[in-house]
Amino acid sequence: MVQAQALLKASLNAGRELLRPLTSADTSHDTEAQSGASHHPLALVPIRSIGPSERERVATHLIALAEHDRYLRFGYAASDEQVHRYVTGLDFERDDIFGIYNRKLELIAMAHLAFSVDPQRASCAEFGVSVLPHARGRGYGARLFDRAVMHSRNQGVTMVYIHALSENTPMLKIARNAGASVVRDGSESEAHLMLPPATLDTHVSEIVEHQFAEADYVVKTQTKRLHDFIAGVQEVRQGVRDARHPAP
Ligand SMILES: CC(C)(COP(=O)(O)OP(=O)(O)OC[C@H]1O[C@@H](n2cnc3c(N)ncnc32)[C@H](O)[C@@H]1OP(=O)(O)O)[C@@H](O)C(=O)NCCC(=O)NCCS
Repeated sequence: MVQAQALLKASLNAGRELLRPLTSADTSHDTEAQSGASHHPLALVPIRSIGPSERERVATHLIALAEHDRYLRFGYAASDEQVHRYVTGLDFERDDIFGIYNRKLELIAMAHLAFSVDPQRASCAEFGVSVLPHARGRGYGARLFDRAVMHSRNQGVTMVYIHALSENTPMLKIARNAGASVVRDGSESEAHLMLPPATLDTHVSEIVEHQFAEADYVVKTQTKRLHDFIAGVQEVRQGVRDARHPAP
């Protein structure tokens, strides 16, 4: 049974990790490799677990990717129809989808952690990710990878792998920074990251991060509702004004 003291310590560690200030140690790759996750200087990024009710948002995010980005993400320049087919086929029971939202609740970054159905790759999961162009370079890709790694460890996954085109420098950097080994095969590469087993810390950290992301989502939802309401009132006012003083 988990000791109350150990649980308290893990909870404190999780809170400290979530709120830690930025230090130069955050970019140390040695520590990253040991923990099986990268540590990008961004500490506070609410990453939410996405459910099947958000298929439309996922589709909107992927459709917003330009042809070359779709090529990098899927390995081919997926058409809108192929993207919709991919979204319809997402298995939210088996896999996990994580997302980062802006204030308008648009999905600006998302990751798909697909648990392997191949018996030769049992207890493995494949990671795929995309960040909208205007939100790149802020560490979202790396943070989504961290989140997926922690979740994978908690699910008993022993290896996360990524298929990427060899030209995809940012993706391969994220993988290498986390300690993954990358095998290049011509124009394609595969990165493998072996994961240490879950600990009480990883379980508690995931619960804390989940709660933080849910709270952030609730705040964003309410703020958006208020903005929409105010915009609606202003529109009605303008309509009344225009009716009173029609243009000559
Ligand atoms: C790959 C992708 C997800 C990266 O997202 P991102 O949020 O911009 O990545 P990050 O900000 O976390 O940066 C990751 C690393 O790549 C580096 N990087 C970012 N853009 C780069 C570029 N154009 N060239 C070289 N390195 C780059 C960053 O400096 C960082 O490395 P560091 O931590 O050592 O400094 C994003 O470019 C994308 O959506 N591409 C299209 C879809 C895709 O390629 N998906 C991956 C295949 S599954």
